[in-house]
Amino acid sequence: MSTWAVIVAAGRGERAGLGMNKAFWPLDGRSVLSRCLDAFQACGRFDGAALALSESDMAAWTDLERREGPFPLVKAIARGGATRRDSVYSGLRALPEDCEIVAIHDAARPFVTSDVIVATLESAKAYGSGVISTPVVDTIKQVGPDGAVTSLERDSLRAVQTPQSFDYRRILAAHERAQAEDLPVTDDAMLFEHYYKGVRLVGAPGAEANRKLTTKADFEALNGPKPPEVRIGQGYDVHRLVEGRRLILCGVDVPYEKGLDGHSDADVAVHALMDALLGALGEGDIGRHFPDTDPAYKGADSMKLLAVVMEKVRAAGYSVGNADVTIVAQRPKLAGYMDQMKASVAAGLGIHPSRVNVKATTTERLGFEGEGLGISAQAVALLYK
Ligand code: CTP
Ligand code: MG
Repeated sequence: MSTWAVIVAAGRGERAGLGMNKAFWPLDGRSVLSRCLDAFQACGRFDGAALALSESDMAAWTDLERREGPFPLVKAIARGGATRRDSVYSGLRALPEDCEIVAIHDAARPFVTSDVIVATLESAKAYGSGVISTPVVDTIKQVGPDGAVTSLERDSLRAVQTPQSFDYRRILAAHERAQAEDLPVTDDAMLFEHYYKGVRLVGAPGAEANRKLTTKADFEALNGPKPPEVRIGQGYDVHRLVEGRRLILCGVDVPYEKGLDGHSDADVAVHALMDALLGALGEGDIGRHFPDTDPAYKGADSMKLLAVVMEKVRAAGYSVGNADVTIVAQRPKLAGYMDQMKASVAAGLGIHPSRVNVKATTTERLGFEGEGLGISAQAVALLYK
């Protein structure tokens, strides 16, 4: 006498909308079906299992065996049918003559545990059937064909799941009759009830977690909340230092003998920052948005241009996560202006100063910055939806 499992995975998983049979869906690195097989294997009570699969999933199964197998429990592959009942029947017929107890399980319940499986097996051994069930937490109403609503007494209700274990001969005979009569049933317990009455329901620790994955939302909930959509951008700009101009960096007037040359106020740091923001948006660069041939931008306050860029950021549905600006200048010494620059940039971006960083470096007198010919700036900005 032996104990077997029939695991049905021959559905299409249409309601889950995954574009594939949900049984093959990778759930945290291991498929829904593999997780079911693991639980039945771990239980240590089975001589084997018949797995019902549709023809179109055979390649996926071979692939799964190679990636996540072996699955020594699976001793037979049964061809699934048009309905779940057909698939179970096909699985039952694949079992050996000496089968005494069979546990029937939906591959769509990957959280099944040994406790739950064993509870149904023990009950089937003692009473001919054992169906896992949980108390109902919602108040259930029955709606009649005429729309009349009747309340059902909650304490008397149970929600049933799989596994459902049975005396093999009896459930096989019930399925044979159901095939002949084309009895519409949604689970095997219904069929057993119909022909024999007296189905035994059992509870077990772990039954609450043994939910069926059915809809798109079921899968989304498992994958956790979607990470926020983030985008990164970087910017770089250089301006020449000349006499007779103000030196404006991050919107702050820095006293110095020279200033940066340019069509606008030549705030090289804010220009790099705007390029970072536009880069993150995939919107090109400031030259495209504020051409230096346009007289409107002559002597323009770069902080005002930043406000225009920020409008584009908001219009695209983004907020600034953080920004980091590096100013490369040999002179003047900028250390004393960092806090003021940081506050100015934070105000321009509309975010808390803790999310802004401004730093300055020299180049050990190397290159154009080191020789005092110009100042360059680099910036990165992170946007999120
Ligand atoms: N099943 C089966 N053969 C069928 C239909 C269903 O083996 N012809 C299996 C499914 O693979 C699943 C279980 O029965 O493991 C429960 O069915 P359900 O949750 O309805 O799954 P699907 O039929 O795959 O999904 P949908 O109804 O959304 O298409
Ligand atoms: Mg279905």
